[in-house]
Amino acid sequence: MNDKIQVISKYALDGKTAECAKALRETALAAKKTLESGSGAGNDFLGWLHLPSSIDEQQFQAIEKSAAQLRNECEYVISIGIGGSYLGGKAVIEALSNHFAAYRQDGGPKVLFAGSNIGEDYLYDMMDLVRGHKFGIIVISKSGTTTEPAIAFRLFKEMLEKQEGKEFAQRNIVAITDARRGALRGLATQEGYATFVIPDNVGGRFSVLTPVGLLPIAVAGFDIRALVAGAVEMEQGDDEQVLEYAITRNALYQDGKKIEILANFTPRLHFLAEWWKQLYGESEGKDHKGIFPASVDFTTDLHSMGQMIQDGERTLFETVLSVGDQEHEVIIPRDEEDLDGLNYIAGKNVDYVNKMAELGTRLAHVDGGVPNLIITIPALTERFVGQLIYFFEKACGVSGYMLGVNPFDQPGVEAYKKNMFALLEKPGHEEATKAIRAKLS
Ligand code: PA5
Repeated sequence: MNDKIQVISKYALDGKTAECAKALRETALAAKKTLESGSGAGNDFLGWLHLPSSIDEQQFQAIEKSAAQLRNECEYVISIGIGGSYLGGKAVIEALSNHFAAYRQDGGPKVLFAGSNIGEDYLYDMMDLVRGHKFGIIVISKSGTTTEPAIAFRLFKEMLEKQEGKEFAQRNIVAITDARRGALRGLATQEGYATFVIPDNVGGRFSVLTPVGLLPIAVAGFDIRALVAGAVEMEQGDDEQVLEYAITRNALYQDGKKIEILANFTPRLHFLAEWWKQLYGESEGKDHKGIFPASVDFTTDLHSMGQMIQDGERTLFETVLSVGDQEHEVIIPRDEEDLDGLNYIAGKNVDYVNKMAELGTRLAHVDGGVPNLIITIPALTERFVGQLIYFFEKACGVSGYMLGVNPFDQPGVEAYKKNMFALLEKPGHEEATKAIRAKLS
């Protein structure tokens, strides 16, 4: 088994794009230098760059202690947050979890996620699920003022206090927020909750290896030290894989491939792709530039989106997350009658078939004009998921600078909020309310 994730670009580049990739190496090295020297735009948000190796024993112990408290007293732990305060933890937990376990095998609590939408029925159903059960809350918001998690927290806090009493709630609510600013900081101080800090210089989408991701992951029973150790391996590595990925995708972009589809053949990676979409979409989509990040779950989506990928407009390329070993083996049985005609693969394990589907898809898509980049992941373990996280983060920083944007801000996400607050008549938004009413009338 390889001991590192690897990028394979030979099915992604043809004569023309290979030349372009060669020429882009200098640009990529300059972008990497800009990133590492902290001399580029957004350089006050580079705390993630040396974050993995800076996590010390005391920080690990504090997170593990808090996780142990929640695991000890709770059947469910609701992690409340949105965007960068949600997707990293969700992605890692899904990548490592049994698909159908109501509980982790070691008997720990089930981690649920709320505050990442404003679905009334979603919240109702979750309240219904945890009613009568002991539950805890991890409330995560860097700004401490985001509407979606604030609504969810108000609901579940009230429910928990009524159901289990104030003392239980105080012991089993943890707030992760800014060191000083924001409504959540004030509330946590007043209520005496345990807290963790999101460093000022780490933006939401780069925060999975802070307590934002590490606490929910530890509560779910996973080894956060191994996860971080994997990230440290990439942090201290030679960056060749990072450069390969950043260069190839930029070469393809320059050749008119405006959409990158992150494809997996492993259901556990669905949310890793959601996390990746935020990381790249929010970092690169600026100044009317940027590769649009999309994702598909194969082979499922080969039966739906497969047609578009094979035969639609040729503006896309594909990056396949190719996982080496599955955790378990399931052998396809022989059947005497063979009515379904499957005996030709009897005795093979299911992943063998999946790997042939992966290879067949690559050949078909490359033939159909869809460049195919591959990222091989030896297995879905904490270590390799940690490597993947850091790899994508660093490649994102390099890629963003290659593109000429500030990869670390997100001015565009405020637009909908302004309108929503005006429509909700939030105090302080009176002028905007008037303007939006005039627009709508
Ligand atoms: O990456 C980002 O900055 C955003 O996705 C934020 O994480 C998201 O909007 C949530 O913000 P906050 O943590 O302040 O509630």
